[in-house]
Amino acid sequence: MSDVTKGDFGPPDADITDPDTYVSGFPYATFERLRRDDPVSWWECATGERGFWAVTRYDDLLTVSKQPDLFSNAQGVTLEDIEGDDFHARRNMLEYDPPEHTRYRRLVSKPFARREVYAYENAIRLLAREVVEQALAEGTEFDFVDRVAKQLPMRMLGRLLGVPDADGPWLVERGDALLGNFDPEMTEHPVGMTDTDQFKHIPFRSPAALDLYRYAEEQARLRRERPTDDVISRLLAPTIDGEQLGEREFKNFFVLLVSAGNDTSRYTMAAGMKALIEHPEQMAELRDSIGTDDGMLMESAVEEILRWGTVTMHFRRTAVADTELRGAPIKAGDKVLIWFHSADYDADQFPDPYRFDIHRTPNDHVAFGRMSPHLCLGAQLARMEIKVLFEELLPRIGDARLNGPIDRLRSNFIGGMKRMPVAVTRA
Ligand code: HEM
Repeated sequence: MSDVTKGDFGPPDADITDPDTYVSGFPYATFERLRRDDPVSWWECATGERGFWAVTRYDDLLTVSKQPDLFSNAQGVTLEDIEGDDFHARRNMLEYDPPEHTRYRRLVSKPFARREVYAYENAIRLLAREVVEQALAEGTEFDFVDRVAKQLPMRMLGRLLGVPDADGPWLVERGDALLGNFDPEMTEHPVGMTDTDQFKHIPFRSPAALDLYRYAEEQARLRRERPTDDVISRLLAPTIDGEQLGEREFKNFFVLLVSAGNDTSRYTMAAGMKALIEHPEQMAELRDSIGTDDGMLMESAVEEILRWGTVTMHFRRTAVADTELRGAPIKAGDKVLIWFHSADYDADQFPDPYRFDIHRTPNDHVAFGRMSPHLCLGAQLARMEIKVLFEELLPRIGDARLNGPIDRLRSNFIGGMKRMPVAVTRA
């Protein structure tokens, strides 16, 4: 199983439903067995939710992704069943199917297109430089997640949205509580460890969502009083066809941005740093390429970091009719989880998948989804954030090593490192 995360392969029979499983890393050996012997397998949940089918191979993930009429997002995209009428009021765009989703997406997609996002590159680069220089000024031994990776994505997204920099830490903390909803360190109400029944009608069963709705309401009010040229104002304005995002749609979209655009990029940055530390020759090569090859190697390195980290471990679909996938008898109403992280280590798609290779090409990873109408809206922003971070960081450091135990998020949904102590030398 080659060089990867030596010793991190886990047992071949881990419970993939149990958030505790992921505290010691992604159970690669288990998913390798599933892809080989039982690619569409039935699981009962350790968390007490209804069971589900686990789709673990790359090509099967695409089969599910490209059929939203058969595998629907409209009944929720996470393992938890959200009950009650409120679900429909609080749905975000991930939880719509075409054609409603198509309309929604048309209304919000423009500011996230590559060209639009790159208009913010300088602002984002200055932020990255400031954060990296600050971390190095305070010492050469630090927690990379806390001092670097956590500081950037929310503030970078904040620059686009036009929210005050000073609100950054609060947004990060609320976003963490939302997505770290199984982790006692991230929220006062970890699902499965405390009684979260009173929150069962809100996204992620997390009261943090309510705070974020209120914040979004306030931001919308401010823009209506005094429109600006930031992304929030653009999202609220009608299109040339007179179509407009409703108030509720805007609030739900805002909460989705804070949850989707915060820790995903953070954990990918951390996964990338760890991989580069573990492959010093590739770190050196990447550093030497900066400013000399038109960003070619950085571009393929970012894609490999995305594949390697594949932070969103799964999303859920719900079958709307009886069907069959690789012989598995899926019934209407069954939950079907597509495991992005597993698909990105599928040897039928990625030769030698456990080898980290910044030159890997082609690299059609599914870290942002693929062939799905829900393909990550923030993909161009995320790619730029990761690129800019390493362009600013690598020339400022010499050697780098891991400098203490790594702590991982307790979640079967998002794979991330909460702490990664590093020691670096200054360049
Ligand atoms: C490395 C960072 C990121 C990763 C790994 C990631 C991953 C994903 C994945 C897997 C999906 C669902 C794809 C599917 O169901 O087929 C998604 C959707 C989405 N992402 Fe990201 N994402 C990242 C960063 C961002 C950022 C920075 C933003 C904010 C601008 C964002 C906003 C969204 C939105 C709004 C959707 C829903 C799109 C829709 O339903 O049409 N993501 N992302």
